[in-house]
Order: sequence, then C-alpha cells, then structure tokens
Amino acid sequence: MNYIPESSRYYSMKYRRCGNSGIILPAISLGLWHNFGNVDDFKTAHSIALRAFDLGVTHFDLANNYGPPPGTAEENFGRILRESLMPYRDQLIISTKAGYLMWPGPYGDGGSRKYLVSSLDQSLKRMGLEYVDIFYHHRPDPDVPIEESMMALDHIVRQGKALYAGVSNYPPDKALEAFNILKSLGTPCLIHQPRYNLLDRWAERGLLDVLGQNGVGCIVYSPLAQGLLSDRYLEGIPKDSRVAKPHGFLKEDRVLTFMPKILKLNVIALKRGQSLAQMSISWLLRDPRVTSVLVGASSVAQLEDSINSLQYVDFTVAELEEIEKALAEN
Ligand SMILES: NC(=O)c1ccc[n+]([C@@H]2O[C@H](COP(=O)([O-])OP(=O)(O)OC[C@H]3O[C@@H](n4cnc5c(N)ncnc54)[C@H](OP(=O)(O)O)[C@@H]3O)[C@@H](O)[C@H]2O)c1
Repeated sequence: MNYIPESSRYYSMKYRRCGNSGIILPAISLGLWHNFGNVDDFKTAHSIALRAFDLGVTHFDLANNYGPPPGTAEENFGRILRESLMPYRDQLIISTKAGYLMWPGPYGDGGSRKYLVSSLDQSLKRMGLEYVDIFYHHRPDPDVPIEESMMALDHIVRQGKALYAGVSNYPPDKALEAFNILKSLGTPCLIHQPRYNLLDRWAERGLLDVLGQNGVGCIVYSPLAQGLLSDRYLEGIPKDSRVAKPHGFLKEDRVLTFMPKILKLNVIALKRGQSLAQMSISWLLRDPRVTSVLVGASSVAQLEDSINSLQYVDFTVAELEEIEKALAEN
C-alpha cells in the first residue's frame, strides 16, 4: 500500500536551529541504534519510522555498526526508504557514522581516512542512497592524527557523499580542535552528538559551552539513559525490554543502581502531569544549545509518548531544584 504522510506533520513538531548553520532540526529525532536490526521485527520498525515522519520527525540517525548484526539497521532503513519514504528524500535529514569496529583488519575501525571513506561508501550502498545529510566521526581516535580524520570528513563533503560533517563523543578540547580544523578546511562542523541525560551530565562540564561559543549544534543521545529514565523498569524487568535482550546495551545492574533516583524523579514527573520519559526529554530541551533530542523507541506508543513531551517543556525553579535534590540523594 502506498504511504501518504500526514499533511499536518510540520505543524505539530517544533524545529530548532542547528548552531549557526542554515539547518533546522526537529526538537525530537529518531535513532536506529536498537530496534531496527535483523534481530528485530521489521514491521514494527517500519511503523515507528513512518509514525515519526507523520509527527514531523524529519531526522533519522544511523551508524555503520547499528543492528545487530552490524549494518542491518542501515539495510532495514534502506528498505523503509524504498518501500515508503524515498519520495520524501528531500524532506529528510539522514545521518550515519563510522568510528567503531565494523570489519576485521586494521582498516575497519578508528579514524583513518581509509576507514571513514570506505565505510561511508558501504553505508550508502546498504541504504540505497547517493548521499547522507550528515556524516559523523563516531568517536575520537587517539592513534590517528585528528587532521587526518577531519580531512576525510571534508573530502567526503566535497565529494557530495555527505552534505554536512559532525563529530560524536569528542571531549571539549578535542571537539574544539576538530571545529578549528574543519573551519580552516572550509567545511564547518554542523553538529556534535554527545550522550546527555538527567543521569549523565558530562556534557555540562565544558562541552555545551564549547558548542555554544563555536556555533555548533548539539543532538543529544540516550536522553532516557536507554530507557532507565522512564516507567519501563518501575515494576521489574519486562521481557521485551532492552535489559532483557541479549544484545541490549543496558544491563540490569544499572537499573538496580539507579532505581532509588528513578522512583523519586517519577514522582516529580507525575506531579507535572508528564511521564518520566517526557519530563526527561523536556528537561534536556530547556537548554537552547541542545538542538535536538535523539530518542530510541521499540514501539509506536513509546515514540508518541516521547514526542508528547513537547506539550510541556517549561519548568519552575522549584521543580528544577526538586530534580537536583532527587539526583543528589541516594
Ligand atoms: N553517537 C553515539 O555514540 C551514540 C550512542 C548511543 C546512541 N546513539 C544514538 O541515539 C539514539 C537513541 O539512543 P537510545 O536508544 O539509547 O535512547 P533512549 O531514548 O535513551 O532509549 C531508548 C529506549 O528507551 C525506552 N523508551 C523509549 N521511549 C520510551 C517511553 N516514552 N516510555 C518508556 N520507555 C521508552 C525503549 O526501551 P525498550 O527497548 O526497553 O522498550 C527504547 O528502546 C540511538 O538510536 C542512536 O541513534 C548514538
């Protein structure tokens, strides 16, 4: 059946400017790290992607290694494009990355020009695309000169295989170095992708300042701490949850460690009339330097719940203090 997107999709979503660039991104974007691999149900993945687009989510984030097995999230997204979304290619911002282990031998991991250029070629084939909108170096590689990694990003953009360059997981000093090199090459860095959520505040220790001062956008990943910052684990470990899946990156000990804080945060969220997932997303969007919050979802209902956080993004000073108190206590 032909897919016709919701005509109202651009009215409900909020869009935010990505640093000083010409691009605006949806306040909430969809990540395909989990739930889109060959171990997952394709029909569900397909429905999540289409529902996202129907709700104004124009940005889909991938990486070479997403799956499992690695590469299959890109293949499945390629199928979703072929079956439904390709007519809307010009309305989509599709990103991918390279930086983690992807294939055996010395050229399938890290930050060399050899790895980054050949990995993007493979990603484009898997997705059936001529170009991606954003190509990221997924993590800094201490064994490769940063100039080489940045020159590879610049080369890829000049080739037209990516429209913009980004970095992910770079600490503030390395990020600044990367931004300066990219600027000198004539390919300014569009965006940085750090992990940031109520339970993991490292981005507040210098990175957000560097991004704000340099006009680089910020899309934060794992905003729900992989599902911890939601009602998912309040009554134990559901069988279909990330923790219960053998390939899931979230482990049970983290649930147990953080549960006292999660319970307190949940009470605050309910008082606000939000789910904990919604409050966690709204909290991130308070900072104007955060361009977009990159959520994962294993169902359409989760995606809808997360997007509904946009209904209520304001916090009172008292609420913010209560949140900090809950996080400080054991
Ligand atoms: N650059 C990097 O190094 C890097 C690293 C990690 C992630 N990322 C990107 O960031 C994206 C998001 O990461 P993430 O999946 O860890 O994000 P997340 O949003 O923190 O966690 C997503 C998980 O939380 C649960 N969930 C989502 N919405 C919910 C809701 N409304 N209510 C209850 N539970 C909810 C689901 O868990 P269940 O599956 O258990 O249902 C879902 O799979 C990735 O897909 C990827 O694109 C990038």
